Amino acid sequence: MNEEIRERTKWFMDARFGMFIHWGLYAIPACGEWVMSEKEMTVEEYRTYFEQFDPCDYDPKKWAALAKEAGMQYVVLTAKHHDGFCLFDSKLTDYKSVNTKAGRDLVREFTDACREAGLKVGLYYSIIDWHHPDFPKYGDRQHPMRNNEAYKDEKIDFDRYLEYMHGQVKELVTGYGKLDLLWFDFSYDDMAGEKWKASELVEMVRSYQPEVIIDNRLEGAGDNHGSIATEHPLPYSGDFASPEQIIPPEGVCNEKGEPIPWELCATMNNHWGYCNFDHQYKTPKMLIRKLVECVSKGGNMMLNVGPDARGNIPEESVKILKEIGAWMAKNKESIYGCGISELPKPEWGRYTQKGGTIYAHVYEEPLGALPLYGIGPDRLEDVTYLADGSAVNRGEAWNTVLYRETAFVSFGEDPVFTYPLPDETDTVLKIRVRK
Ligand code: GLC
Repeated sequence: MNEEIRERTKWFMDARFGMFIHWGLYAIPACGEWVMSEKEMTVEEYRTYFEQFDPCDYDPKKWAALAKEAGMQYVVLTAKHHDGFCLFDSKLTDYKSVNTKAGRDLVREFTDACREAGLKVGLYYSIIDWHHPDFPKYGDRQHPMRNNEAYKDEKIDFDRYLEYMHGQVKELVTGYGKLDLLWFDFSYDDMAGEKWKASELVEMVRSYQPEVIIDNRLEGAGDNHGSIATEHPLPYSGDFASPEQIIPPEGVCNEKGEPIPWELCATMNNHWGYCNFDHQYKTPKMLIRKLVECVSKGGNMMLNVGPDARGNIPEESVKILKEIGAWMAKNKESIYGCGISELPKPEWGRYTQKGGTIYAHVYEEPLGALPLYGIGPDRLEDVTYLADGSAVNRGEAWNTVLYRETAFVSFGEDPVFTYPLPDETDTVLKIRVRK
């Protein structure tokens, strides 16, 4: 991997767990952020939400506090999504929160709140824009007017759109202090790379924010990594891959087989933007294990919330995040700064590793003693429960002598007996081994 990227992404790879926030006018129709496209709404039809928008409960300090409590270390907010509506005070458009009942720059309050809470700050910016008159419409893959014949012979000036888009990105990277992360979304068909004047864009961004981390979607999307994993990544290939709603089965490696930075972005239910009928929430237990899976494969997890039209994060999400936070409070050491273990995946769960310390994430209770796959009894220096620091009993006994190459531990006093796991979500054992 390129040294510059390694340096830049250091904090990001250590942070491992972040919050994604999808919020905008689409919280009003409350069926996800693609509603304008899905219902093929005109700009005028969609504008009713702009007239209505009144996020009277918006308090990004609360969002930041929740992210913090969940054990997240960075937060990324949609400054503009595909519908083109801006949560920031762009001088290049009137289509912004300042001109709604909110009457102010919501991004500024957000960046301030995150920094105050000690979180890294990221902004999502949609390079797609369904509001701008110079964005391609008829025949586009997803534009709301893609099937509207009235736009068939419409003349647009795409360069004018690019000027607008680059101008807005410049506003974001010059007007909101140091940004830690920029999440562009997304490329498709021939709308990729230099079509966006991506080299120029990245160069401009880096001239103001040399350390900002950029995702890979100026070139790719959830279905396409772009050139980031190839031997010769393009200048706009980004700093990390962004698999969407899927954990890469083997992590993400470049052509040489070296792991590269990646971040899973995932929803807690089945929508990014607020959806008032989607109650298909993943459980805290499942999400904790998926976070561990990402880390064990060298990646991050950015978990999404979709605040409602008043600006509140849905109750279900709050509850889940607090439960994740309770586990993180005790076990974060096995997540932060950790990555792929030198040991192969154990049958009962997963290993994560930081330097010489191995963390065993035990999901399945053993019958009798638990074999620490890949660790010989003589290599084992000590094992403790990460949650409380107490010692874990060794599990070698008369019935393990047939398996002398493997160390065993026991969750109780007599290793021949079977005991329940102290934490059935994920019992973490901190293992120190001799070299
Ligand atoms: C997609 C969608 C979008 C969402 C994003 C998050 O590409 O277009 O709505 O913001 O994924 O990863």
